[in-house]
Amino acid sequence: MNFNVKTGDSDKLRSACVVVGISGPRRLSPSAQKLDKASQGQLGELLKSADIDTGCGKTTLVHTPRGRVQAARILVVGCGKDKKLSPQDFDKIVAAAAQALQSGSATEAVSFLTELDVEDRDQAWKAQRIVEATRTALYRFDELKSDAKPPKRPLRKLTVAVNDSAALTETRRGVSRGTAVANGIELARTLGNRPGNLCTPSDLARQAKALKRSHPALKVQVLEEQAMEKLGMGALLSVSRGSRQPAKLIVIQYSGGRKNAKPVVLVGKGVTFDSGGISIKPGAAMDEMKFDMCGAASVFGTVSAVTEMKLPINLVGIVPATENLPDGDASKPGDIVTSMSGQTIEILNTDAEGRLILCDALTYADKFKPDVVVDIATLTGACVVALGHHATGLLSNDQDLADELLEAGQASGDRAWQLPLWNEYDEQISSNFADMANIGGRGAGTITAGCFLGRFTGDYRWAHLDIAGVAWKSGHAKGATGRPVQLLTQFLLNRCL
Ligand code: BES
Ligand code: MN
Ligand code: ZN
Repeated sequence: MNFNVKTGDSDKLRSACVVVGISGPRRLSPSAQKLDKASQGQLGELLKSADIDTGCGKTTLVHTPRGRVQAARILVVGCGKDKKLSPQDFDKIVAAAAQALQSGSATEAVSFLTELDVEDRDQAWKAQRIVEATRTALYRFDELKSDAKPPKRPLRKLTVAVNDSAALTETRRGVSRGTAVANGIELARTLGNRPGNLCTPSDLARQAKALKRSHPALKVQVLEEQAMEKLGMGALLSVSRGSRQPAKLIVIQYSGGRKNAKPVVLVGKGVTFDSGGISIKPGAAMDEMKFDMCGAASVFGTVSAVTEMKLPINLVGIVPATENLPDGDASKPGDIVTSMSGQTIEILNTDAEGRLILCDALTYADKFKPDVVVDIATLTGACVVALGHHATGLLSNDQDLADELLEAGQASGDRAWQLPLWNEYDEQISSNFADMANIGGRGAGTITAGCFLGRFTGDYRWAHLDIAGVAWKSGHAKGATGRPVQLLTQFLLNRCL
C-alpha cells in the first residue's frame, strides 16, 4: 500500500473518498466544515438526523455528496466528545477509517485526520501514526491459508492531506518514518505468527540473511553450536540440547554512526517454541508458545526500521535462537550448568529457559563495547499478571536509560512500566548447590528473572523489557502485535536528536 502527501482543500481535491473527523455532539473539523458548506449543509443534516455517529471510531460513509464536493464519497469518522484526543484514541480513529476503506469500494482516499487535535502531538507525529495505524489495521497473516481471499477492492493509496504548504516537509518526514516503522512492525508480526515447525532457529538465521539482502548495509553473522561451545555458552546450550533443531546465535550489525561511536546492543529472546522442557507446560494454549521468539522478532523489526530510516547510530542485534523441548538428552531439574561468564546455574525449572539463553547472550554482548544494552523477551507469565496486556515490563540497572525507554514508550504510545531491581529480590535466586538458581520462588517472578539477568550484565548500562503481555494477542484476534518495535525505534530515534 502507498502513502503520499498533498496540499489542498477537502472540498476541492478529486478522489474516490475524502476522510474527515467529526466530534460529538456536532463539532466539525475544519475540513469537515468545508465539505459541509460545499454540500449545502449535508453533513449538518446527517448529524441532526443522527445518521452520523460521532462515537470515537464509528464510521459513516456518505455516497455522492451534494453540491460541489469533488470527492465521490465522504467517510466521516467519529472522534468522541473530548476536545483533545489521546494518542490511543487517534490510533482507534485511524484504524477505523482504514477498516472502513478496506471493506468499502474506494481503492484510493485522501485523509484529513492530521488536522485532529492530539494531546502534545505535532503534525509529523500524526502523519507517522496514520501510516503505522493504517498498516497495522490492514495487516493480515494468510500465507498459510490455501484459500486466502484478499479484500475485493483493497485500499491501494492513501493521501495524507495538509492544509498549508508550510507543514508539507514535516508531514512527509512523518510518512516516511511511519513507513519504515510499519515495515518493521509487519516483519516482527509475520515472524511471530509463523508456526514453530516453520520458524525454527535455522529459519530465523535465514531471515537474518534475507534482511541483509534487502538492506546490504547490514552485517550478519550466525554462530553455530560448535562456536557457542568454544565460547563456553553452557547455559544457552543446556536449553537447546533437548531439541533436534540446532541452536543459532544470530548477530546483525548496522553501522550508521561514527566509526568509533559505541553501539546500542539489542538482545532478543528467540525461543521458537517453548514447551517448558522436562518441566513441561500444561496443554491449554501451549500453541501460543510459538510466540516465544517475539523478542527476537522485535529486534529484526527494529533493525529493519532503523536501517530504512538511515539513523546515524551504530546498532547490534543479538538473537540467541533455540527450541525448548523435552528429550532423553534434555536438561533436568537439578542440573547445574556453567554459563559463559563462568557463573554456575542450578536449573530448578527447565521452563525458565529464556534467562538461560539470554544470560550467555548478555555476556557475549560485552564484546561490542556497548554504550547500552537492551534485552527484549517474552520472559515471564508473572509480567502478564502484573501489567496485563497494556504495558511492557521494564527493569534496569541505570535510571537514565530506564527514563529514556519510558519516555520513548510514552511518545510512541507503545508504553512500558518500570519495576524495581532491589537486592532483596536478588536474594530469592540463591542456590544451595550453585552460584544461583534459575527461578526465585513464588513472589515477583518478573523481578527475580530481571535480577538473574542482572548478574550477567558486566559493567555496561542495561535494561530488560519483559514483553510477555504485549507481544501477541490471544483469543479471537490471535496474533503477534509487533510490539515493542515502536518503542525501540522511538528510543533509537530520540538518541539521534
Ligand atoms: N515463555 C515463558 C513466559 C510466558 C508464559 C510468556 C506465558 C507469556 C505467557 C517463559 O519461558 C516461562 O515459561 N516462564 C516461566 C518461568 C517460571 C518457570 C519461573 C513462567 O512464567 O511460568
Ligand atoms: Mn519457558
Ligand atoms: Zn519461554
